[in-house]
Amino acid sequence: MLDIMANRRSIRKYQEIAVEQEKVDAIIKAALLAPSGNAIYPTRFFVVNDKELIVELAKAREVGSSFLKNAPLCIVVSADPQTTDAWIEDSSIAATYIQLSAQALGLGSCWVQVRNRKHSKEITSEDYVRKILNIPECLKLACIIGIGYPDEQKEPHADERLRRDHVYANRAEQE
Ligand SMILES: Cc1cc2nc3c(=O)[nH]c(=O)nc-3n(C[C@H](O)[C@H](O)[C@H](O)COP(=O)(O)O)c2cc1C
Repeated sequence: MLDIMANRRSIRKYQEIAVEQEKVDAIIKAALLAPSGNAIYPTRFFVVNDKELIVELAKAREVGSSFLKNAPLCIVVSADPQTTDAWIEDSSIAATYIQLSAQALGLGSCWVQVRNRKHSKEITSEDYVRKILNIPECLKLACIIGIGYPDEQKEPHADERLRRDHVYANRAEQE
């Protein structure tokens, strides 16, 4: 697990190879295993491999989502906020499980933020994606995770560049 974490980078270029169904199943199982506040499991996952839909999803954001058009697989992470006030946390943890399980299976992935983002001046990314996938109004959308076999290589983050100054031993230092 620590190696998987150390080697994961956001991958935005993918080979033109479909992700095998066993791998999709394993990723979804990982998402369903993620911890959830009060064991409420508000998350709902839309697993998209339809090329035409993915091309539409790639327009979810004004900038920052176009790379999705070449992803063979997208997972939209959403949740029902009426059941819990921790839907953002639960969605984020599930999305992280999706990214780490993809990495473990030799796949690359990247998060596209949907929550609080815009498709255009008038339309939110959430409403735009909701319409494409017919997602009911009762669900809030967190993100889209693009997944596929990597077509780019990235170095792991160098240890010396980690923000160790963001870490405090016990208490913050006094000013
Ligand atoms: C909450 C969140 C939102 C993100 N949104 C986007 C996005 O909309 N588009 C994108 O290309 N990358 C997005 N990313 C990926 C980040 O840009 C990436 O994680 C960051 O640059 C660090 O690089 P690394 O993932 O390779 O370590 C997002 C990541 C997180 C955690």
